[in-house]
Amino acid sequence: MLIARSSVSDCIALSLQKIVPMHDVTVSRVSARTWPSSIGPPATPYPAFEQDTFERKVVWRIMTLTNTILVTGGAGFIGSNFILRWMTSSATPVVNLDRLTYAGNPENLASLPRRDLYELAHGDIADGEFVAHLLKRHNPRAIVHFAAESHVDRSISSPGEFVRTNIQGTFSLLEQSRLYWQGLSQSERNAFRFLHVSTDEVFGSLEPQEPAFSETTRYAPNSPYAASKAASDHLVRSYFHTYGLPTLITNCSNNYGPFQFPEKLIPLMILNALEGKSLPVYGDGSNIRDWLYVEDHCSAICAVLDRGTPGETYNIGGNSERTNLEVVTAICDIVDAAAPRDSQEPRRNLITFVADRPGHDRRYAINAAKISRELGWSPQETFSRGLRKTVDWYLANNDWIQRVRTGAYREWIRKNYTERETQ
Ligand code: NAD
Ligand code: TYD
Repeated sequence: MLIARSSVSDCIALSLQKIVPMHDVTVSRVSARTWPSSIGPPATPYPAFEQDTFERKVVWRIMTLTNTILVTGGAGFIGSNFILRWMTSSATPVVNLDRLTYAGNPENLASLPRRDLYELAHGDIADGEFVAHLLKRHNPRAIVHFAAESHVDRSISSPGEFVRTNIQGTFSLLEQSRLYWQGLSQSERNAFRFLHVSTDEVFGSLEPQEPAFSETTRYAPNSPYAASKAASDHLVRSYFHTYGLPTLITNCSNNYGPFQFPEKLIPLMILNALEGKSLPVYGDGSNIRDWLYVEDHCSAICAVLDRGTPGETYNIGGNSERTNLEVVTAICDIVDAAAPRDSQEPRRNLITFVADRPGHDRRYAINAAKISRELGWSPQETFSRGLRKTVDWYLANNDWIQRVRTGAYREWIRKNYTERETQ
């Protein structure tokens, strides 16, 4: 069925390309670069569908027949990996609603194979009017919701932004999705999915001998980030039970891989190691995380979208529990082998123990038996291979690194580390 629909959409897209080249189309409330110049400038930066020209209505009506999905936060780390994977394996349109915060980088999607089927909608998930326009115009069959403030340390210094985007933003997105979904035909309503991408951090912290988190583990979030994601999970759940909106929730462990913003542990340590800077390990480095290569997370999300049961939640993990110190020493050894220092001094010597994160969760671990049993998903990448691939990616993408290290990035690093005491 999917193959048949893909080939139909392929044909439509190819014919459309002849009518109007869709390259680099960006919809924005603030930019007039909404439409390709060949079909005339828009009446306003973002006109209502009714106000569009006949030609533009035809283009969009045909596009909406083609299985569009709406992705939120698709310019971030996991969202961009997801869109790259999605558009490589299925030629169906993707609309990417992203506010382009410090963590959102449209360049992550520069290598998209089918730019004609991709559109960046620069906007906020909390902007109900804008989301309603997008839903009406694109008629998506699914929403995959990645957009969030995602960094625990930032949630400790500025929790308000996490409440705004992760809770209020998800609420607003749910509300617009519900209104849109209620206006669909019965068969479209049955097929529609709202997939909410969440985290294992909602379950709190495990002691070393405790069993891994399962889907029935009690929620016990400890950071403002985890609490805001827990609240958003509850809202999503309530929209299934109250309104019947076909929702799915995934709770995943720590991701790593290409395009991760270098404020998170693994990319930060790779870049610092490469540059011979100190490697700031919080506390004594014994906190444990479960690590999943980002492509495995994306394949799990595809499996849940395709075969998951509405109203259910699925835990996703990599079966790769490591202490932070194990992760950082592994990075040091890989970087030493790939780019030896002139002095030959091992990078492990750069490790510095710094003041711990307040409320630092001791251990996360995921029991992924449900998604494996019910949907046939399991991670394909080992941690050592995934980490080598990740180091290689950062070594090969110096331009990307330089561009994401803006003034705002440097200010964050100064704030989080320069003012942090060494232990
Ligand atoms: P990220 O910080 O790299 O990217 C977040 C994206 O959301 C950015 O592109 C940003 O511009 C966008 N965004 C932020 N606020 C927005 C708003 N109000 N409206 C529209 N767009 C907005 O995050 P990530 O690491 O890619 O995580 C994506 C999702 O996966 C998050 O929901 C996160 O909670 C979840 N998650 C992440 C991990 C992980 O290890 N990174 C693990 C499990 C779950
Ligand atoms: P992080 O990548 O921020 O992910 P999360 O807090 O969502 O798990 O951190 C992973 C682990 O690494 C966490 O236990 C905190 C620790 N950490 C450090 O020791 N030093 C650092 O500079 C950072 C950013 C994290």
